[in-house]
Amino acid sequence: MTQTLYTESEVKSVVAGLAAAIAADSSERKILLLGLLKGCQPFLADLCRELSRYQLSLAVEYLQVSSYVGTASSGQVKISQTLPESLMRGCDVIVVDDIFDTGLTLKSVVTHLREKGAERVKTCVLLRKEGSSRVVMEPDYCGAVIPDAFIVGYGLDYNEQYRELPYIKVLGEEDRK
Ligand code: IMP
Ligand code: MG
Repeated sequence: MTQTLYTESEVKSVVAGLAAAIAADSSERKILLLGLLKGCQPFLADLCRELSRYQLSLAVEYLQVSSYVGTASSGQVKISQTLPESLMRGCDVIVVDDIFDTGLTLKSVVTHLREKGAERVKTCVLLRKEGSSRVVMEPDYCGAVIPDAFIVGYGLDYNEQYRELPYIKVLGEEDRK
């Protein structure tokens, strides 16, 4: 049976909470939101909309990153391009991803950005899976902690399907086609 984990309106209030937390921590510096494609898309768009309520200096960039095959992390994180140091200079970079599972993706991206000269890097995820981390790192901003199940919707996919759902659900047996 399909199990909805977060309805559309629940997702909206989680995102609003994250925007408030980011705004509360913001300094005079420009914030560069760096979305990890493709899963970040609806989340990053809604996060930007929520952040527009605050008087912030904001820029948005993307990195294409992948590591998943089906429902499991391959353990190998591929970062398809890099971000010029000039875009990050003077900014508080906030890496935005849909979910923190093993943590390998965020850890690799943060390490990569530091090597490329980023001064201040933070991380923001909509969701984090309980007890699945394989790295010594915590996201700076986390919307909610969920049980260790494979979920889809709101940008999260199963073999490129279900990203379009406006809510988040646990992937059911009947969805694995
Ligand atoms: P990590 O590197 O294991 O932390 O996984 C992060 C990435 O794996 C996320 O950006 C997602 O793209 C993907 N991922 C992890 N768990 C799920 C899930 O339950 N559903 C869909 N994608 C997931
Ligand atoms: Mg992803």
